[in-house]
Amino acid sequence: MSRAAVVAGIGSCLPPRAVSNAELSARLDTTDEWIRTRTGIARRWHSDAGMATSDLAVGAGANALKSANESIVDTVIVATTTPDRPCPGTAPLVASKLGMTGAAAFDVGAVCTGFLYGLATGAGLIATGSADRVLVIGAETFSSILDPADRSTSVIFGDGAGAVVLRAGEASEDGAIGHCDLGSDGAGQDLITVRAGGSAQRLSGVAPEPGDAYFAMAGKEVFWRAVQRMAESCRGVLNVTGTRIDEIDWLVGHQANQRILDRLADDLGVPRDRCVTNLAEVGNTAAASIPLALDHAHVAGTLRAGDRVLLTAFGGGLTWGSTVLTWPALKRG
Ligand code: UT7
Repeated sequence: MSRAAVVAGIGSCLPPRAVSNAELSARLDTTDEWIRTRTGIARRWHSDAGMATSDLAVGAGANALKSANESIVDTVIVATTTPDRPCPGTAPLVASKLGMTGAAAFDVGAVCTGFLYGLATGAGLIATGSADRVLVIGAETFSSILDPADRSTSVIFGDGAGAVVLRAGEASEDGAIGHCDLGSDGAGQDLITVRAGGSAQRLSGVAPEPGDAYFAMAGKEVFWRAVQRMAESCRGVLNVTGTRIDEIDWLVGHQANQRILDRLADDLGVPRDRCVTNLAEVGNTAAASIPLALDHAHVAGTLRAGDRVLLTAFGGGLTWGSTVLTWPALKRG
């Protein structure tokens, strides 16, 4: 018997305001038709003034704790690209707001791959005996860093949060987190970036351009790398775990673009109707994307106990990662 982290609960949280394609088309040079056909997105969600990433993280975390029948954990990990402040991390505040002052708490920054990096980290803490229960949250308020004049990013990204509770268990149990394939390529840091605000810009002696405080993405270059890296990473984790692709019931890819998800499925040989997708309803929520998709599929009854699920993500860094697990029986958050 070997000790492993096991998924014990799941939850999510969306902010209050749905932003339709029609609303964006009224202020940007775009159309509902372009957005739907090029991305698959129908709406995304924006936070209200006065909200921050920690609010969504607390909402998702509380729902995941409820689903796991837990009130406290040893460690809280928040994966985010949009922390409440550059310093300190958001996770300690989230732990406090959830009534867990004293718990270990830290942020993970791997952009859209952040949740899988956080999941691997939390699972590692449990496997080594450093923690018995870990709350892993992916949370974003991307609306806070989008350039309102940039149609290529404004139509895609949205806010949201998703979370899982991990508990100590056995590697043979449903929900056990096994091998995680993780990778990065820092040479691609300019492809998905916020140029201003970090040490490189502050110490450059050059004042930032007005747009540098906003999120920027070289969409076309990112598109093909996303398909290629996620496919390679999936093959890596299937290989290490000795899993055949036809044993996978559901592919849960980072919800970046429906065309990326379709190409990834075709490349791997997974039927498109075996791909979990909530992209149309929430857009690309970066680090929140995978746990949000999992929770929505869990609540909808799409994911059933015993299903083999392949998770994969790609994002800024560049970063990528994948893991495979057997979906456990979970309560709703
Ligand atoms: O989350 C991290 C990972 N993210 C991703 O993986 C996202 C990857 N990239 C994408 O999803 C796509 O590249 C985008 C959705 C960002 C763009 O779609 P595309 O089909 O690659 O469009 P494009 O960048 O090649 O642009 C085609 C045309 C351009 O016009 P011209 O130069 O052909 O006249 C763009 O200016 O579409 C134009 N365009 C738009 N038109 C209407 C770009 N954005 C829009 C828009 N509405 N919102």
